[in-house]
Amino acid sequence: MSPTLGTDIAHAAGILRGGGLVAFPTETVYGLGADASSASAVSRVFAVKGRPRAHPLIVHLAAAEQLDAWCESPGDAARALAAAFWPGPLTLIARRAPHVLDDVTGGAPTVGLRVPSHPMAQRLLAAFGDGVAAPSANRFGAVSPTTAAHVVADLGGDVDYILDGGACDVGVESTIVDVSTGTPALLRPGGVAREAIEAVLGRALVLGSSTPAPGTLPSHYAPHARVIAVDAADIAAAVRDAQRPTAVLAPAAVLASITASGSLPDGVTSLALPDDPRAMAHELYAALRDLDGRGLATIVATLPPEAGLGAAVADRLRRAAGPRTVEDDHG
Ligand code: TXA
Ligand code: MG
Repeated sequence: MSPTLGTDIAHAAGILRGGGLVAFPTETVYGLGADASSASAVSRVFAVKGRPRAHPLIVHLAAAEQLDAWCESPGDAARALAAAFWPGPLTLIARRAPHVLDDVTGGAPTVGLRVPSHPMAQRLLAAFGDGVAAPSANRFGAVSPTTAAHVVADLGGDVDYILDGGACDVGVESTIVDVSTGTPALLRPGGVAREAIEAVLGRALVLGSSTPAPGTLPSHYAPHARVIAVDAADIAAAVRDAQRPTAVLAPAAVLASITASGSLPDGVTSLALPDDPRAMAHELYAALRDLDGRGLATIVATLPPEAGLGAAVADRLRRAAGPRTVEDDHG
C-alpha cells in the first residue's frame, strides 16, 4: 500500500486520535508520531521501526506550559532551558509524571520532552491537544529522514499519513539534556549548541549520565557503506587505504584543497558539504543517503571542528563510522 502524503492537519490529528501513526516534519528531522497516552499506538511505533521496546521515545508537546503535565517538579534548570529554547531543537529528560506510560519511557523513571518549532508540527500538536510520542521516522539502520520522500522510502505504507513540510531546517536531531538530577548532563549533541545551553545554565554540562541512553550507542546512524571519519588532514591517507569504490564527503573548502594538491586518486568520487557547520548539518543526512545509494564500499567523511552545530555533525559521523552490531542499531 502506498502511503498517503499531504498537508491536512485536521486529518492527521484525527488519525492520531484513532490510534494511528502520522509522520510529521519537525525543524530537526521527521518524527513518527503516535498518541503518547495510547499503549497500542505506541506499540505500533516500535513495531514499524523495528526498535527494541526498552528504548524510550520523546513526547512532543505544543507548548512549554504543558511541561508540568508530563513531569514531576521539573526544577530551575528545566524551566530555564524550556524558556530559552522551546519551541526548538532541545529535548529535556525529566522525572516523569505518574500517568506517563511505561511503553513510552521503556520503564525508566524519566521522560523525554520536546516542543518542536516547525509550523506544521506546531499546528499538528495544537490540533491534537496532547502529547505525541515520536522517534525519528526512519526504519532500523537508516539515518534520520529530513524530507517526506525519505520517510516514504523508509516506512512506505506502514504509516497511516505523512505530513509533507519540505526539508527540515536543522537537519540533525535535537540536543538531549538530562535535567532529572541536580547535575544537567548532555546526552546527545544536536540542534541547540552546547555553548548556548551552558550560557543559559551558567555552568558546564557534564557528559552522559547514570541513565544509559540507548540512542547514544555507537552504530545508531549507520548507512550501508563503511564510513571512515577522519580529520581533514588525514583524508588523503584514509582514501589511499580505503576499499573501492570510495567516495569522499567533505566541506567544499577541504575538497578544493585536496583536489588542488592532487591527492584524490582517479575513480574516487566526492560530495561537497557546505563549510558552515549549520548549513553542513542541514545537508548531512541527505548527503549520506545520496552516497549510500551509489553502491560504495567506503565513505571517507571529514570531521568538522566541534563548535556549535559542528559537534552534532561530528557526533553523527563518528556513530556512522562506529562498530556495527544489530543490538545497537535501533535508529
Ligand atoms: O530531533 C529529535 O529529537 C527527533 C524529532 C522527531 O523530535 N526525535 C528523535 O527521536 O531523534 P529518537 O527516538 O530517534 O531519539 C531519541 C533519543 C533516543 O536515543 C532515546 O534513547 C533518548 O532520546 N531518550 C528518550 N527518552 C529518554 C529518557 N527518558 N532517558 C534517556 N534517553 C531518552
Ligand atoms: Mg532516531
